[in-house]
Amino acid sequence: MATHSNKKRVLSGMRSTGKLHLGNYVGALENWVRMQEQYDCFFFIADWHALTTDYADTSRLKENSVEVLLDWLAAGLDPAKCVMFIQSHVPAHAELHLLLSMITPLGWLERVPTYKEQKENIKEKDLGTYGFLGYPVLQSADILIYKADVVPVGEDQVAHVELTREIARRFNVLYPRQDAGAELLQRGVVSPKVLEERLRRVLVFPEPAALLTPAPRLPGTDGRKMSKSYGNAIMLTDPESVVRDKLRTMVNDPSRVYRTDPGNPDVCPVGDLHKIFSTDVVKREVEVGCRTASISCSECKSWAADALVEKMRPMQEKRKLYEDDPRRAWDILEKGSEAARKIAGRTMLEVRRAMGISAEYAPLPSERLKRSLTDSGAGLHVDPLVWDLTGVERGDAIRRKWLDHLPTDIILKDIGSRTYLTSRSKRVGMPTSRENDVNEWMFRSRDRSYDVVVLLCLTKTFEIIDFVLPQKIFQSNWKKFARREGSVIILVVRRGHEFLLTIPGESSLPITEFRSNLKPLI
Ligand code: TRP
Ligand code: SF4
Repeated sequence: MATHSNKKRVLSGMRSTGKLHLGNYVGALENWVRMQEQYDCFFFIADWHALTTDYADTSRLKENSVEVLLDWLAAGLDPAKCVMFIQSHVPAHAELHLLLSMITPLGWLERVPTYKEQKENIKEKDLGTYGFLGYPVLQSADILIYKADVVPVGEDQVAHVELTREIARRFNVLYPRQDAGAELLQRGVVSPKVLEERLRRVLVFPEPAALLTPAPRLPGTDGRKMSKSYGNAIMLTDPESVVRDKLRTMVNDPSRVYRTDPGNPDVCPVGDLHKIFSTDVVKREVEVGCRTASISCSECKSWAADALVEKMRPMQEKRKLYEDDPRRAWDILEKGSEAARKIAGRTMLEVRRAMGISAEYAPLPSERLKRSLTDSGAGLHVDPLVWDLTGVERGDAIRRKWLDHLPTDIILKDIGSRTYLTSRSKRVGMPTSRENDVNEWMFRSRDRSYDVVVLLCLTKTFEIIDFVLPQKIFQSNWKKFARREGSVIILVVRRGHEFLLTIPGESSLPITEFRSNLKPLI
């Protein structure tokens, strides 16, 4: 199974429409087969997407999925080089779809071009359903759950990938984990490269890029775009006799009414087939022969049939191997689904955490623990809602909470929103910060003289850890800290049970012993 972390991840899907035709091959599959050589590829059969339009009859849904898989294998997708699976076998897609649906404005969906088009064009089915409108959100979930970098698609799907990018952006903004990076950026403290690296690590979703498959025009037997629903398709499974029959009755350049009329391969659908499938020699013969009427259309069509049969023979032989042993094909799907579920599961953990709905234990407000300030093991818990407040409000809430739980022998007088006075007239500064993704807290200290600095650190489990830096430590170290524009950045870094005080550019100072050490306050 391909799990190369340094390769870019490619993901694409196909609806489970049953057996594939040449148009599917040229427009997508052929490209996928190439891509599996250099990318970390995930390809899946979108059976839930098929349901969005074909919900009324599901009798052939499963069979159709297997047919698609057989054609993929026939065309050269290799389970040793890419992951293949069925969408519905990875239920996490549905969970992410649900969560993304919460943040997707209706207007975005109503504006998707395929929505309007299909609703108008497909009259025989009722597409006024919730599922059909939500189709692109499901597609976004398919893409984002694997954090795909590249999504190879046909032209009609580009708008869906664009929507995926917008949904990803909205998610990342609503459920940010990039506080550290954003703050650093504002102050110009880190290099853009470091910053980028950091942000990438903390944003849940990267924005995928659509890769437009360069698809040559592939007409069906009636000259229109090849499509199963037009009944003009040449299937990858068509036996030679059927291919030849279909070619024989294929439309040609209408200006060749009589055998002696010259034609133009550039306006003839058969000419298009030659351009894609024939050798240069044959193409030249068609080019000259058609324009000079030195060949007949039936001759020309038989050459096109030769080229198609040649192309499809090895595929059909390979397909036969799997048809004779269908269990083997199903095993490939099961292995693929397992691999996909693992990766999707990992993303969902991050998603749930970012959205505040993970199943991991977090103390509820009602379980707030009473704390003993001298016991450094006990925590002071705050309401999880505090986490989501903006900087100033969060700071105030954390300070208030901390002050409320001071032992009664410590009296602090409020002399400003962030500055307090001890009973012995020492000025106390109390910057606050919440833990970021790399287990650290970042504080900004103004160039102001405090006698005592209390760092209030909100942890990911909604606990406040305080460090009461005594005057001595504070003053002897502060002086050497480079001040920038009237403020200095202080980091508290958690390393297991140890805490380090770091200033960018300075060596770290262990400060674990100053946790909950309230003596300097009195
Ligand atoms: N909507 C695509 C189609 O009809 C199939 C699809 C579903 C897909 N999910 C996807 C394609 C994710 C690319 C990525 O062809
Ligand atoms: Fe088309 Fe071939 Fe006939 Fe020319 S000779 S019109 S290319 S079928």
